[in-house]
Amino acid sequence: MKLSGNTILITGGTSGIGYELGKILLAQDNKVILLGRSKEKLQELKQQGFEIIACDLENQEDIENAVVIIQNQFPDLNMLFNNAGVQHNYMFTETAVPPHRIRQELEINVTGQMILTQLLIPVLSTVEKAMIVNTTSGLGAFPKTDGLVYSASKAAMRNFTSGLRIALKKTNIAVSEFIPPVTDTGMTRGRGEKKLSAAVLVKKIMPQLKKEKKILTVPAMRMFLWIAFLFPGLANKILSKK
Ligand SMILES: NC(=O)c1ccc[n+]([C@@H]2O[C@H](COP(=O)([O-])OP(=O)(O)OC[C@H]3O[C@@H](n4cnc5c(N)ncnc54)[C@H](OP(=O)(O)O)[C@@H]3O)[C@@H](O)[C@H]2O)c1
Repeated sequence: MKLSGNTILITGGTSGIGYELGKILLAQDNKVILLGRSKEKLQELKQQGFEIIACDLENQEDIENAVVIIQNQFPDLNMLFNNAGVQHNYMFTETAVPPHRIRQELEINVTGQMILTQLLIPVLSTVEKAMIVNTTSGLGAFPKTDGLVYSASKAAMRNFTSGLRIALKKTNIAVSEFIPPVTDTGMTRGRGEKKLSAAVLVKKIMPQLKKEKKILTVPAMRMFLWIAFLFPGLANKILSKK
């Protein structure tokens, strides 16, 4: 995939990894559309040269409006990054969280992204070469006990990504999975463990994006995926220490 001259939509583009991804792609001569809820943040980002779409991925009407904006204003869209996400950390077996918190995590991390993807495939199908990149997590390969719903949501997106790749195999749309290691963003604020900077992470994955690698990530995460597959007990020990 060439990394310039594209029209790119990034969900969760208003902060953290999505924003850094947007910055690096904007600097490489792409049209970059950032999608997020915060209208204030989006207005600020517009001043930096981004296109913006306000959309809450929990809201069906918002998603449909976003798709209409894409169809009318950006019909040449050829890259979709499903990157928005939330993570609620609590011990599922000990804390009775309100049901809407569970639904919200699944709506944002899974359902909203699936609906958006399905509605945008017809748009992506009209260009010569397109790509869908879904941001998942190492916790989608092995769950963390204080983030069970988050882990399950990312496991769902991992499975969805593999299936989408097979379903779109004979089309113009390539499908990749982006697995960040622990990265310094709002999501990991307050966590003491070693974190990678989001700017460094996106720089590292650019060559892999260009090659359309199935999994875009850092070497330590590739190692963790193998450990989770072959030695689940060890994966559990690694996550328990974090
Ligand atoms: N940071 C890590 O260590 C790490 C590790 C593995 C995977 N990830 C994944 O990487 C992705 C980006 O996370 P991040 O670390 O960059 O976190 P972040 O800085 O908190 O960014 C999350 C983004 O999601 C957007 N978002 C949240 N709820 C939304 C909703 N209802 N509708 C639309 N957008 C919504 C937020 O925008 P608004 O607030 O403007 O809506 C924000 O731009 C997530 O999928 C996360 O699961 C992160």
